[in-house]
Amino acid sequence: LASIDVDLAPVQEGQAITVTWRGKPVFVRHRTAKEIEEARTVNLGDLRDPAADDARVKKPEWLIVVGICTHLGCVPLGQKPTDPRGEFDGWFCPCHGSHYDTAGRIRKGPAPANLVVPQYAFTSDTAVRLG
Ligand code: FES
Repeated sequence: LASIDVDLAPVQEGQAITVTWRGKPVFVRHRTAKEIEEARTVNLGDLRDPAADDARVKKPEWLIVVGICTHLGCVPLGQKPTDPRGEFDGWFCPCHGSHYDTAGRIRKGPAPANLVVPQYAFTSDTAVRLG
């Protein structure tokens, strides 16, 4: 299917889910106020792949990114509460040590680019359509 609908209602603040879209894992994270603050207070000049947080989200509390490391394609950790999230509170790719922040931006390690933001649209307050 080209598009899928994702129910956001069960995803509590601080939680994340992984859905499969076009054969790829997509991370949907319900960010906390702290995570949003971390994403928004970064100096863009310090970023390898500069992008403002508000250019990567449609609603501050929901971050949606393709869960594939832009280095060599591993799936980064950081979705489960028990996962390591790296030095920037986002995701950590265990393959070669890339660290992503709470906006899915690359901050440290070999990956060249941010986690990709897929095409999506909110269809209600509690639903999003990918694709
Ligand atoms: Fe993620 Fe290499 S594939 S760091």
